Amino acid sequence: SLLTKGDVQRLDLETFNPQLISIYKSLIPSQEEVQKQRKFLTHLDRLVTRDWGGAKLFLFGSCANDFGVCNSDIDVCLSVDDEHSSKAELVMRMAGILRSDDMQNVQALTHARVPIVKFTDPDTGINCDICVNNMLAVVNSKLLHDYSQVDPRLRQLAFLVKHWAKQRQVNETYRGTLSSYAYVLMCIHFLQQRRPAILPCLQKMQPTYEVTVGKIKCAYFDKVNTLKNFGTGNKESIAELLTCFFEYWASFHDYNHAVISVRTGSFLSKDEKDWTRRIGNERHLICIEDPFEITHDLGRVVDRHSIRVLRDEFKRAARILRQGPNPAVALFEPF
Ligand code: GTP
Ligand code: MG
Repeated sequence: SLLTKGDVQRLDLETFNPQLISIYKSLIPSQEEVQKQRKFLTHLDRLVTRDWGGAKLFLFGSCANDFGVCNSDIDVCLSVDDEHSSKAELVMRMAGILRSDDMQNVQALTHARVPIVKFTDPDTGINCDICVNNMLAVVNSKLLHDYSQVDPRLRQLAFLVKHWAKQRQVNETYRGTLSSYAYVLMCIHFLQQRRPAILPCLQKMQPTYEVTVGKIKCAYFDKVNTLKNFGTGNKESIAELLTCFFEYWASFHDYNHAVISVRTGSFLSKDEKDWTRRIGNERHLICIEDPFEITHDLGRVVDRHSIRVLRDEFKRAARILRQGPNPAVALFEPF
């Protein structure tokens, strides 16, 4: 044959990369959807400022962090200065306001670890979750958003990984797999490790943004417009990056000792975090440090069973991406 093995692989990549890019594009919310979301948020904001003096709404999660695929739910945080009421009471009051405005399926989940009210807007069909005084989530959403502005490959990689995780049913924290937030942190950390690096470590640079939330000081460099060329020395395509991402989690990550840390742009050891044994329900079988709440391991939900499921899915993805056939279809086949 005229083609060597290396050439065959390269030809494959040349068709595979555009296929991935077009899947990525199909996941981006349409202009129409973005406008619908804006209209809904304006309405909600008016409603709350009218009926609840001193209350403010902040957007967080996938609508605020630039990692929202189409038809995502909207995450909103209600900020109120009221030390006399519990979060459950504040959630109840919010639920009352929503019901009086004829919102549908208003449910106040007051006993959840994070109390929230869930509802549907009848005009737009949008589903929304509102939590109370969770400003750390607002700040970490901004951090993710700022990272997404540095290199377009982060958003592409994260969309594809989130899509894979949803299709393969490994994006279900109540069943012991990982949150979307955890997957995006894994993508950021992975791009910080490429050589040359595709992303910097914003928390290790001179801070231009600083806020204190409770006892936690959040500070990092947020003038990301000045970093648009940061990753351009690295020419890796999204097909290569996606393949290496899954190979890393399938075969190279040191699950016994390593903690991935976006905050430091490097690896920490489980020993130094004291994440070496099971405490209560937290097992630390895969360790992902929260960038601000550094005692918080986003892998804590993973148990003996789900770690197997996850690692098998990472291996399946890596195999499909290396060997095909038709990786752009097979990778996302529903579980
Ligand atoms: P989709 O809804 O799946 O599209 O993704 P999402 O970006 O909304 O992510 P997810 O639902 O996992 O989380 C929403 C937001 O909650 C995240 O952006 C974080 O700001 C916050 N969050 C989620 N999990 C945690 C957690 O364990 N700790 C903290 N501090 N924040 C979290
Ligand atoms: Mg969400």
